[in-house]
Amino acid sequence: MSTTKAATAAKSGAAPGAAATPATLDITDGRTGTSYPVPILEPGTEGDTSIRAMDLRQIKVDASEFGLMTYDPAFMNTASCKSAITFIDGDKGILRYRGYPIEQLADQATFLEVAWLLRHGELPNQKDYDQWVHDITFHTYVHENIKEFMRGFRYDAHPMSMLTATVAALSSFYPEAKNIHDPGQRNISIIRLLAKVPTLAAFIYRHAKGLPFIYPDNDLSFVENFLSMVARMSEPKYEANPIFVKALEVLFILHADHEQNCSTNAVRAVGSSHVDPFSAVAAGIAALYGPLHGGANEAVLRMIKEIGDPKAVPAFIDDVKGGKGSRLMGFGHRVYKSYDPRAKIVKKLAYDIFAQVGMDKDLEIALKLEDAALNDEYFVSRKLYPNVDFYTGLIYRSMAFPMDYFTVLFAVARTAGWLAQWEEMLTDKEQKIARPRQIYVGPTERAYKGTLSNKFPRSRK
Ligand code: CMC
Repeated sequence: MSTTKAATAAKSGAAPGAAATPATLDITDGRTGTSYPVPILEPGTEGDTSIRAMDLRQIKVDASEFGLMTYDPAFMNTASCKSAITFIDGDKGILRYRGYPIEQLADQATFLEVAWLLRHGELPNQKDYDQWVHDITFHTYVHENIKEFMRGFRYDAHPMSMLTATVAALSSFYPEAKNIHDPGQRNISIIRLLAKVPTLAAFIYRHAKGLPFIYPDNDLSFVENFLSMVARMSEPKYEANPIFVKALEVLFILHADHEQNCSTNAVRAVGSSHVDPFSAVAAGIAALYGPLHGGANEAVLRMIKEIGDPKAVPAFIDDVKGGKGSRLMGFGHRVYKSYDPRAKIVKKLAYDIFAQVGMDKDLEIALKLEDAALNDEYFVSRKLYPNVDFYTGLIYRSMAFPMDYFTVLFAVARTAGWLAQWEEMLTDKEQKIARPRQIYVGPTERAYKGTLSNKFPRSRK
């Protein structure tokens, strides 16, 4: 799918090695016998081919009909946009941001460098990078009223509910962010979101623990400052564990973007109504919360806790296969049909951290689960491999983050990708308000015949 040969062949409309034919798909409507040559679009740079769904609209039995639609629940085979940001080859286990392999970025880049790359398409030069880091560092403070807003949550409010609501609330502090067609406004909104989401995330942590909020420290790096706001107590200057700093930097890079996943699709769809980016990102955070998406890292640890003992793994796997229990959380992916490249990096990172802070007590269960699934026909035949969330929870726990906080860490990182994708959507001339069609399967027209004898039972007679 991703070879240049395939791309060239697709461009000419020919199979590799065959003579060139016009790049059309000829569709014959069996109902009418009419043929429609549907243009095959110029392939993407990695060879993805497609037709325009709107080209099917001309296919109809008589002129008064609406025309043919495609039916694609859950977007299994629909490209909703053209994007130059992230490339995934799910069969080969490849992930690249703007062409750069994730392995190289995780090894050598910083998270803010990656955030710049995602947004601008190229790595920053030193001057741009310094300005970017400066801008994000100096916008980390949030309005004091946000603290009051947060205090309104109960002590046991789920951190993701708090983050969704608080990022949405930020929109009310920046009414000018509605000017989304002004590049200057977009720029400051993007900087504010990247800078303030970590502050909100840290305040959420402190709220849950009943600890005072810690203000940002502009002398620290992005990750160090985040850890300082999370963990600082009475020390005058917080010094984060360098192993944790490195680990979070890598995890933030791995989570920064992942093309058209559920939450990114939510940000794009909500943003397509031209709402401000704070509101659009809040929608993305809500989508990320779900256990099939970002919430899986929390779900993995809950599952491991429920298993409780390495000896219980075979019975658990049988339950999953028999549909008795839940799914094997942290396994499977819509796009990856081989080992998620991020999971490989995370697994290695986990070992590096455990070598420093001691082995996680549940690593043995995780390893046994992975081994059992990778050697089981049910998982092998469905191409279910560990995804990024399988080992991240164990790492976060070794850093003393509570289980229900893990997805917040994912959200801090993914904010970079959401914003890059949001801006790409807004500046794409082909995009309009996202508004899918439906196939109506409800009743046809019928006359109203009410049976209620009292329609307003609560009003005074
Ligand atoms: N455990 C057991 N069976 C599974 C699993 C799993 N984790 N994932 C998929 N399957 C089965 C599923 O039951 C179906 O079997 P059958 O063909 O017999 O009906 C088959 O595999 C295909 O599943 P699907 O639901 O059609 O696949 P999908 O592409 O719609 O779902 C997924 C992708 C990630 C939602 C799913 O694999 C899943 O629920 N995984 C567990 C949750 C998880 O780890 N999510 C994190 C994803 S990575 C981080 C992120 O990007 O958010």
